[in-house]
Amino acid sequence: MTALHTRATDAEPATAEGMSDRASTRVRRIQLSPTIAIAGRAGVLRSAGRDVISLALGELDFDTPARIVEAAHKAALEGFTRYTAADGAAPIKDAVREKFRRDHGLSRGRDEIHVASGCKQVIFNALAATLDPGDEVVIFAPYWVSYCDLVEFCDGKAVVIQTSGDNGFLPDPSALRRALSARTRWVFINTPNNPTGAIYPSALLAELAEVIRNHSSAMVLSDEIYEHLAFDGNVHVPFTLAAPRMRERTLVASGVSKTYAMTGWRIGYAAGPTWLIDAMARVQSQTAGNACSIAQAAAVEAIAGDQTLIGDWLNTLQRRRNRALAILAKTPLLKVSAPAGAFYIFADVSACLGRHAPDGGRILSDSDLAEHLLMHANVAAVPGCAFGASPFIRISFVIEESLLAQACERIVDACNALQHRQAT
Ligand SMILES: Cc1ncc(COP(=O)(O)O)c(C=O)c1O
Repeated sequence: MTALHTRATDAEPATAEGMSDRASTRVRRIQLSPTIAIAGRAGVLRSAGRDVISLALGELDFDTPARIVEAAHKAALEGFTRYTAADGAAPIKDAVREKFRRDHGLSRGRDEIHVASGCKQVIFNALAATLDPGDEVVIFAPYWVSYCDLVEFCDGKAVVIQTSGDNGFLPDPSALRRALSARTRWVFINTPNNPTGAIYPSALLAELAEVIRNHSSAMVLSDEIYEHLAFDGNVHVPFTLAAPRMRERTLVASGVSKTYAMTGWRIGYAAGPTWLIDAMARVQSQTAGNACSIAQAAAVEAIAGDQTLIGDWLNTLQRRRNRALAILAKTPLLKVSAPAGAFYIFADVSACLGRHAPDGGRILSDSDLAEHLLMHANVAAVPGCAFGASPFIRISFVIEESLLAQACERIVDACNALQHRQAT
């Protein structure tokens, strides 16, 4: 079996497959985002006439609400089409300030707000603004695919701590204590979590904060991009509410992509101490310049306008999640549990390993399984190795329900067809 995706480990530095050696060492340290790569392969197969259903990407299939699009249109017609301040114009900074006050109990001035072209760029700006070569960033696995590459691109070193599905993928404060060193500059916390859907309880956040507080070089990057996506009455607890004493050492990052179906508009934002926001603005001023002015206007409407739509979308997502879980439960080869938040199911596929596919190929890893699903079941899903945790596959439930159901049936049939070969 060919590996669909393998992530580099410390022992084997990342080398981008097919990357010319004329590219910089820095670029050769990173890889094309695996979720984008897999979704791209699904697209290529589809355009070649294959009926591939993609469960690879993390973006809502809903349209951006009309009132948000109209706000962008109005801004463009009114001439809000020029450069803005590097880290965001006053209207979006004020909308973000109010959002953090409303949702996070966090009072911040304009000089403590950063707006960039997506939460991904917020994180990049923060790392570029703070990391010196060899500085360490503690990341809990399974992690969002871009964290380690962003750190490595900025000359840092990702220190990965595994969490376990047996414990709901919640981080262990004593493992964190052991991982911190004099070189630790950041600890990344991501709740609700991509890919596991775990929501960290308030008491756990407070415990993690206490461990980090005793380590004066370390800051927290709290990635709360899925903050509004919680199911079954679960509630997301903002890090700064659980750990108010960490306020000056926390960068809270979020954005409009996941909550308002605005992935393509590219607006992310963050709140943090002034020295950090200043340094991030400097990075931004010499790279993107500023986030798109028209998208900033759209984001103001998204954040400050009517929020009731989110509830309807959540009901739809929860229904889809439940349907997918019910179908996936039809094979004993997948171990699934209901994610509390975000929009992914992170299925344990260990029971598939060692088995043979009907074409004779042997499934030895989650990457093999994802490849098999893509080529023989016409479903694109992301192997756990992309998130630093194996053997799992991540299934996004952000497509129309009947298509999602069809994709899950295909996964179940493909798994049930895997056999142990008798020794002859
Ligand atoms: C955990 C996490 N953080 C950040 C991002 C980036 O979001 P944005 O579209 O705002 O760049 C994503 C996108 O998938 C994500 O899953």
